[in-house]
Parts: sequence; C-alpha cells; structure tokens
Amino acid sequence: MIIVFSGCGNSLDVATRLGNTLGDSNIMHLKGDALKLNSIDATSERRIIWACPVYSWGLPPVFVDFINRISIEGGEKCDHYLVATCGDDAGLTHRQWRKLMKRKGWNAISSWTVIMPNTYTLMKGFDVDDAEVASRKLEKSVARIARIAEGIESRRKVDNVVRGKFAWVKSRIIYPWFKRFAMSPKPYHSTDGCTGCGKCSRECPLGNISMADNRPAWGKNCAMCLRCYHICPTHSVAYGNSTATKHQYLNR
Ligand SMILES: Cc1cc2nc3c(=O)[nH]c(=O)nc-3n(C[C@H](O)[C@H](O)[C@H](O)COP(=O)(O)O)c2cc1C
Ligand code: SF4
Ligand code: SF4
Repeated sequence: MIIVFSGCGNSLDVATRLGNTLGDSNIMHLKGDALKLNSIDATSERRIIWACPVYSWGLPPVFVDFINRISIEGGEKCDHYLVATCGDDAGLTHRQWRKLMKRKGWNAISSWTVIMPNTYTLMKGFDVDDAEVASRKLEKSVARIARIAEGIESRRKVDNVVRGKFAWVKSRIIYPWFKRFAMSPKPYHSTDGCTGCGKCSRECPLGNISMADNRPAWGKNCAMCLRCYHICPTHSVAYGNSTATKHQYLNR
C-alpha cells in the first residue's frame, strides 16, 4: 500500500505512477477524515510506501504527526519505503523518516527523492519554476519513478536521495526554525479579486478554511501545503505581502 500526503498534487502524482508501475492500487490519500485515522489494517500488505513532499528539508509536520499517532496492524511485518518529492533538494529528510520508522518498530528498507516542480512561494526569493523548468522536471520524473520502482521491487537497501549542499544545517537548524516561525497560517487572506467561489475552502486537505460572507477565513490547523494559494482560480489568496508578485502551480 502507498500512504501519501500531498498539498499540490506532486506527491500524489508520483505515488499514483509508482503504484501503477508496481501494480499497487491501494493508495491512501491523507486528507480530511483519512488524516484523522488512528489505525490501519495492513495484514494483507507486504510493503508500505510513505510518500510526501519535503518541507524545509524535513518531513511535513502533519505527516510526522500522522506517523506518530497511527497504529498499523501488520506494520511490523511490512517493508517500509520513503518516496519524498522536492523542488530541489531534501537535506537529511530520509534520516528523520528512518528515526520515525525505528521508533515505531517498522523495517525501513530504502528512501528516495523525486525532483518535481516547486510549490513554495511564501518567502522572499522563492517562487514556482518557470514553465520550461517545470516541464523538464516532470519529464525526468518518468525515468526516476521507473528506477525507484525497480529499487523497491528488488528490496535494495539504500538512501537514494538528493541531499544538496549544507544538508545538516538545513535539516537540523533551518527545519526546526521553519516549523516554529514560518508555518503560521495567520498571514493568509483573500484579496479583492476573490469571487467567493469557495474552492480554496473545499480543497484544503485539513478542512482549515471556512467561508463567511462569501470570503474565506483561515483557521489554526494548517499544514502549510499551499494548496489554497495555488488552486485559487483568480490568484486571490495571499500570504501577508510576500506573494503579491508570485505565481501559481498545481499538479492536480
Ligand atoms: C512549506 C514548503 C516547504 C518546502 N520546502 C522545500 C525544501 O526544503 N526543499 C525542496 O527542494 N522543496 C521544498 N518545497 C517544494 C516541495 O517539496 C515540492 O514542490 C513538492 O513536490 C510539493 O509536493 P506536493 O505537490 O505533493 O505538495 C517546499 C514546499 C512547501 C509548500
Ligand atoms: S478560491 Fe480564490 S476566489 Fe475562490 S473563495 Fe478562495 S480566495 Fe476566493
Ligand atoms: S489552509 Fe491552505 S496551506 Fe493550510 S492546509 Fe489548508 S490548503 Fe494547505
């Protein structure tokens, strides 16, 4: 089975294509009620593939919380794999995942990254890729997914990940800082172009956006996945004043 968290569809896209290649159609998409599950039956599974985006060179906190909470019947008999998607590099995300697996008593076999179009736009200097870069990344992901499928089939014990430069600093210093200071949903608001269509509210994987007087209102339970920002048909979701000149990208 494949258990996937995905904000803007890249990780879900990779999980789906990997599942097709491996003949594994049991995909659990972590959103809404699925994110609130306390137990899963995996007694008929031989492996569990964990798929998610990389957030600030670590695992998305919402994904970590899910793994920490979930009880998986048959989990200790399964082989466990990580497939993380990132825009550029993942730092030591794989080590964080291995530590989690160990704590749960689950057998971590291998970890992999797939470079996909960037979704992060909330800080100065960060924007989505231009169309050419994005489509090149998507093209390259085809061969990458085939390679990962082959590695998983053969149970190769490896961490085949793009760590990037200064991986330790990024994952051990910047990741905790980011979690503490850069994940607040408070700056989210809608701008004048908002038509009140409610799409951002319907599509939030955590159900964190309510509609009041035809305008979205953000609650406190946010994964910082940016789906609301990228999915708005009129580009009217803003984060403070840092997204005014930024662009949108959505895989699905
Ligand atoms: C909050 C946040 C932090 C991110 N941090 C990183 C990062 O540290 N390194 C990186 O290469 N990409 C980073 N990205 C880009 C995503 O990892 C990448 O675009 C991923 O494929 C998005 O997957 P999704 O569409 O399944 O959400 C970040 C994206 C977000 C929203
Ligand atoms: S998706 Fe955009 S236009 Fe629709 S309600 Fe949300 S902010 Fe407004
Ligand atoms: S409010 Fe926006 S960024 Fe936060 S979880 Fe929902 S869709 Fe993602």
